[in-house]
Amino acid sequence: METSIVVDASRDLGEIDSGIYGHFIENMARCIYGGLLKNEKPGHARGPWSLREGLVKAVGEINPPVIRWPGGLYADGYYWREGIGPVQDRPLRRNRYWSRYGPLTRVLDSNAFGSDEYMSLVEEVGSEPYVNVNFGTGSAMEAARWVEYMNGPRDTVEGRRRAENGREKPWGVRTWGIGNETYGLWALGHSRPHEYGQRYLEFRGAMEEVDEGLTYVAVGADHYLSKGWNREMLSVAGDRVDLLSVHIYLPGMERIAGVCYSRIRRGSSGVYRAIVASPLEIERRLLEAEEDINGVMGPDSGIGVALDEWNLWWNPVQLLVPRWTLRDALFVCGVFHALHRLSRFVKMANIAQLVNVLGVLSASGDRFYRSSVYYPFLMYCRLAGPERVTTECRCDEFSAPRLGGIPSIADVPVLDCSATLSGDGKTLTLFVINRHMSEGVEAGVSLKGFGAGSTVEVHCLNGPAPDSYNWYDKDEEVSITSSMPETGEVLPKYTFPAHSVTALVFTT
Ligand code: AHR
Repeated sequence: METSIVVDASRDLGEIDSGIYGHFIENMARCIYGGLLKNEKPGHARGPWSLREGLVKAVGEINPPVIRWPGGLYADGYYWREGIGPVQDRPLRRNRYWSRYGPLTRVLDSNAFGSDEYMSLVEEVGSEPYVNVNFGTGSAMEAARWVEYMNGPRDTVEGRRRAENGREKPWGVRTWGIGNETYGLWALGHSRPHEYGQRYLEFRGAMEEVDEGLTYVAVGADHYLSKGWNREMLSVAGDRVDLLSVHIYLPGMERIAGVCYSRIRRGSSGVYRAIVASPLEIERRLLEAEEDINGVMGPDSGIGVALDEWNLWWNPVQLLVPRWTLRDALFVCGVFHALHRLSRFVKMANIAQLVNVLGVLSASGDRFYRSSVYYPFLMYCRLAGPERVTTECRCDEFSAPRLGGIPSIADVPVLDCSATLSGDGKTLTLFVINRHMSEGVEAGVSLKGFGAGSTVEVHCLNGPAPDSYNWYDKDEEVSITSSMPETGEVLPKYTFPAHSVTALVFTT
């Protein structure tokens, strides 16, 4: 088949919320303690801890739009008051959630990284905060006091306490989550959907009394884990939900129970095809969430979806010490394209997690490195514009086999395209994922409704092979190369290299 891509810049498909390129940190294993923070006295659970400056700089470079904290499952056992005030006076506690799984997921909680440290980090890297309150073992009143600590003026009780802790001005946290995976038996505060809905209303009511106009995220569920949850919960609390949280991890630990780890890590062709195709499964599951919202609340409810945890996860070892490959970077870009297509209702997404635990970045001892899945964030956060425009792509398809929770998919397009326009309409970016494992794909590329004679930059995320990966001593095996060919060299035909993601950035 002749492969062709047509971009029509005059056909605007609406805005993409930049929140879809978001992140998530949690006091689990070595994400925060031992990851984001390094221990100045190794072995001492109390620390002292200090931020890893190089790593924080690398986080700033991907312009994180939002960072979710403190969990995750940890949030439902977290008492925010234990994490404020002089660090040496904060209690050293058992990690109320993750200690149940033993030392590797973190038994002790030093509380050295609390609300003020989180907000300073968020400010430093230019991100927005998103805080999850303790629904599981906490109360609506505690959540309301936390809102006051974060957002209240100095003449409130908690606002004064914050000022005494060194921050005069309110921090201003606009987005708040209430609970995490409450549908799961594994969650602290596990509830039935209607019970959750009723208590959610109590929490939201108490928090609203302190600060009006905040955005609230309610616990939603992927059908794979709890099919009826969304509809029942929304029928109780839907009028007061702004965003419905959905978590999706593929292929999922429960289905392949770790035995395929070496197969996935070595990466056969079937595993490669399943993983690069799996963003289509994420898209399908998110559409189910949209159907639930529309089914209960009607098509104009304005309730959006926050995919506030997502990633590839197949085994506890890979969870704790991931070794992401180029294949996995293609998966991340595929998720971005799925979220572009669903931008009418997906308003935020947070990859799990930022450091070490399935981490975009990894750190150990005095070192850190940018994994292959860091580069999709670098590419899209810098180059994608806020408006989505039409692309039509004719290309070959391939079939992908089932892998754990990823079903077999018969007709996966070899190229996955998405195009965006800058706010001023002067920059058009065409992203093209070539999912082919071994061959470049030549495609005719044409632009409609965009200035002729524009200049073009080419940025290509690639590496020597689909299983190429970055590590401490070889940070850039997978990375982005940039060039500025003459326009004529790119149009009318361009060859997209095997297993790559290309951004063609046209400027008038
Ligand atoms: O990201 C790790 C954990 O996975 C989160 O705490 C939880 O929400 C999810 O199940």
